[in-house]
Amino acid sequence: MKRYSHKRVLITAGGKSIGQSTAFRLLNEGAKVLITDIDPEALEQTKALAIKKGYSSDLLLTECFDLQDANDCNNGFARSIEQLGGVDVLVSNAGGSLQTPYAFLDETDNDWHKVIELNIMATVRLLRQVIPLMVKNEYGRIVLLGSKAGRYGSLIAGANYSTVKGGISALTRQIAMEFGPKNITCNAVCPGIVMTDRVQALWAERRTESERLKVLHDVPLRRHAVVEDIASAIAFYGSDDASFVTGTVLDVNGGQAMCG
Ligand SMILES: NC(=O)c1ccc[n+]([C@@H]2O[C@H](COP(=O)([O-])OP(=O)(O)OC[C@H]3O[C@@H](n4cnc5c(N)ncnc54)[C@H](O)[C@@H]3O)[C@@H](O)[C@H]2O)c1
Repeated sequence: MKRYSHKRVLITAGGKSIGQSTAFRLLNEGAKVLITDIDPEALEQTKALAIKKGYSSDLLLTECFDLQDANDCNNGFARSIEQLGGVDVLVSNAGGSLQTPYAFLDETDNDWHKVIELNIMATVRLLRQVIPLMVKNEYGRIVLLGSKAGRYGSLIAGANYSTVKGGISALTRQIAMEFGPKNITCNAVCPGIVMTDRVQALWAERRTESERLKVLHDVPLRRHAVVEDIASAIAFYGSDDASFVTGTVLDVNGGQAMCG
């Protein structure tokens, strides 16, 4: 029996990077997965890749909508839940700093607003729809995506991003307390730098080569994360191996937080 047999998993922003890797990891562990994304091509490519890997097309479902638009978001989540037939495990993965400035004094209200919409409000809107179903079933595993930025600051994203990711840690604990009595757990995975396309570009743009080498040298494991490192932490929290773990955040940063 696989860890995710009979589990219905909803993952936001699953067309690429960490979300896509998590989808494949959980498919491999027996789950039925629905991924959402704003990019129809990324969804098509992920679906094609799943079929190429030998998964039947009804095990990886997709929904395309914009998580920064409240209406689109609410309607998209309702369609996703209906298509999946319920949600046992939720991975609220969508997030990012959306190319907003690194310097605090350069960030406008709009830079704050859009980062809050994607990282916090999309998660809140999703939780509002999913938690009542989990309460009814008296079962749920919720995994939120925080960041090293929200715990120790960021070398490439600004104060808006660090603030929302700190908020994700706080939201994790509050949801865990309120819904623990209904057998719903809520935990957050906090990655350090993961060399996705988005981060690679920011990393090259915002740090000099010597700064980049120094940071890498200060990571005890001497490398940055790959998406599979994050997917395996998410897979643990979403599984029943973590059924007595709630309200926690897991640093997945190669030990970087110990060394600056
Ligand atoms: N990559 C990192 O270094 C890193 C580090 C710490 C935390 N995180 C967190 O991990 C999560 C995933 O990050 P990632 O780097 O894998 O993502 P990413 O930037 O590579 O994007 C993944 C997907 O999100 C989709 N997306 C973007 N805006 C959207 C919107 N408005 N509506 C719907 N979909 C949208 C994109 O189309 C893309 O397919 C985020 O919450 C991020 O903050 C990432």
